[in-house]
Amino acid sequence: MSTIVKVDRVKKYFEINKGIFRKRVTQIKAVDGISFSIKKGETLGLVGESGSGKTTLARMILGLIKPTENTIYLDNKDIFEALGKERKEIRKKMGIIFQDPLASLNPRATIKESLKRPMLVNGINKKDMDEIIKDTISKVNLREELLDRYPHQLSGGQQQRVSVARAIVLRPEFLVLDEPTSALDVSVQAQILNLLLDLQEQYNLAYLFISHDLNVVRFISDRIAVMYLGKLMEVASGEEIFNNAKHPYTQGLILSSAVLSPRDRDRKKISFAGDPPSLIKLPKGCRLSPRCPYKKEVCVEKIPELREILPGHFVACHRAEEL
Ligand SMILES: Nc1ncnc2c1ncn2[C@@H]1O[C@H](COP(=O)(O)OP(=O)(O)O)[C@@H](O)[C@H]1O
Ligand SMILES: [Mg+2]
Repeated sequence: MSTIVKVDRVKKYFEINKGIFRKRVTQIKAVDGISFSIKKGETLGLVGESGSGKTTLARMILGLIKPTENTIYLDNKDIFEALGKERKEIRKKMGIIFQDPLASLNPRATIKESLKRPMLVNGINKKDMDEIIKDTISKVNLREELLDRYPHQLSGGQQQRVSVARAIVLRPEFLVLDEPTSALDVSVQAQILNLLLDLQEQYNLAYLFISHDLNVVRFISDRIAVMYLGKLMEVASGEEIFNNAKHPYTQGLILSSAVLSPRDRDRKKISFAGDPPSLIKLPKGCRLSPRCPYKKEVCVEKIPELREILPGHFVACHRAEEL
């Protein structure tokens, strides 16, 4: 299987002004040297607490913001170097679905107009548009009569189906899904996830599926990447992550996301103590070290590299072999 997206050591640092006269500049290392690839037709789940840099990474992959350092490739082309026609081709190959469908749809446009927009921008033949819209709307299981309505006249689930339709209208190869079901009711969540799985099979779509909810990620992903304060802690197949997590952070996430029986509830104590994470005052060594129950001297001194400890299983922890 060939690679569709390659994220190569990407960093994004934001500078913000702090202090009374806003003269002190503070650096926020939102994304701090992240690498991974996604194959055609594959789903990589990206999981991490709020503020860990997931959306910043998504925006870079879509070319919406430029990395501070290094770059991203789509089909072996540097997305920030491409110009003109090549840039347009790259954009056509990717799509995005956000958490809040209502905020991402134009309230004054009918559903049909919203679906037409990407086609107009990309110079699709006018006489083909109605056919493509009809086909796409049925692919996401919506009735055609919804096409003349406005977003606020639809339910949350229907709105998210429209966002999915809009994202696939140009038949992309890769979608970034940033918390696509977090704003939906649980029953609707499952329907959208199943729809995404169906579409993936039909179009051999690759997904970067972002969520703070490990259980949602588990359902849809082939591989899972665990992010914490701008860095990847662990990357492995879903099965490995759930049955053989090596990073203390991943283990903590699994425990806190599990539906624990009363007898097991005490085990929750293993999840993290200490100050909530902050990107402004990062520790010198491992980012988890202030909260990690297993930390040793090396963990405080040295940032652990992401390394392959089993085939296809990567961990950034000095003590991965012992734990
Ligand atoms: N444009 C920006 N300017 C300054 N800081 C930002 C900007 N965008 C995001 N951040 C900061 O970067 C960090 C990561 O944010 P984000 O990528 O939204 O995380 P997540 O999606 O995982 O919740 C946060 O501390 C956030 O405040
Ligand atoms: Mg986010």
